[in-house]
Amino acid sequence: MAFNIAIDGPAGAGKSTIAKKVAKELSYIYVDTGAMYRAMALFFLREGISPEDEAAVSGACSRITVTLSNENGEQQVFLNGENVNGQIRTEEVGNMASRTSIYPKVREKLTQLQRELARTTDLVMDGRDIGTCVLPEAQVKVYLTASVETRGKRRFLELQEKGADCELEQICRDIKARDEQDMNREISPLRQAEDAVLIDSSSMTPQEVTEEILRLVKGAN
Ligand code: DC
Repeated sequence: MAFNIAIDGPAGAGKSTIAKKVAKELSYIYVDTGAMYRAMALFFLREGISPEDEAAVSGACSRITVTLSNENGEQQVFLNGENVNGQIRTEEVGNMASRTSIYPKVREKLTQLQRELARTTDLVMDGRDIGTCVLPEAQVKVYLTASVETRGKRRFLELQEKGADCELEQICRDIKARDEQDMNREISPLRQAEDAVLIDSSSMTPQEVTEEILRLVKGAN
C-alpha cells in the first residue's frame, strides 16, 4: 500500500512550501489539489460561467479533463491537455476556485482523480479536505495553520517580491473571506480531521515545520 501524507489548512498557511519540502526529503510526489480546483476555475472563467450558476458549472464539468505531471519535483497542471501552470495563480482564479469548489460535481471529479493517484503512489497531498474526505486512511495527517496576520504578511511579502502593487489590509481581508468560504461550505468544508496533528506555523520556520512532519512520518513507519 502506498504511503500518503495529507496536509490541510487555510489559504496562505504555507502548505505548498512545506508539502514540497517534505516530498523532496522523502522522494515522494507532491500533489497540490488547489491547483486542480484552480484549473477547473480557469475553464469556468474562460467560458464566462457565473460561479453562482450551479447548473452551468456542473454541466461544464463533463467538458473538462484535468491531468497532472511532475517535472523536476514541480507539479504541472493540464486543462484539456494545455499546461495552465502559469495562469492559475491569480486572485481572480483563486476566488473562482473557492466559489466553484462548493459544488458536488466539481468535488466528485477531482476527489476521484486524487484518490486514484494516492492509491498507487507515495505522496504528500495538500488541500482543504484531504485528511477528512479524500484520504481518510492517510498514514500521516497534518492540519497546518497560522494567524490571519502572519498569513497576510507572508502573502504581502511574496507579492511585493514579484513587484505587485498591494496593500496588507486588503490581503488580510481577502484571506478572511476565503477562510469564511472554505470553512462554511456544505460539502467537505475545511476543518481539522480528528486524527490530524495541528501545527501552528505562526512562529515557526519552514524548516522547523518540515522537521516536525518528518518526525511524524518516522513515528508512523
Ligand atoms: O490552496 P489554493 O488556494 O490553491 O486553493 C484554491 C481553492 O480551491 C480554495 O480556496 C478552495 C478550493 N480547494 C478545495 O475546495 N479543496 C481542496 N482540496 C483544495 C482547494
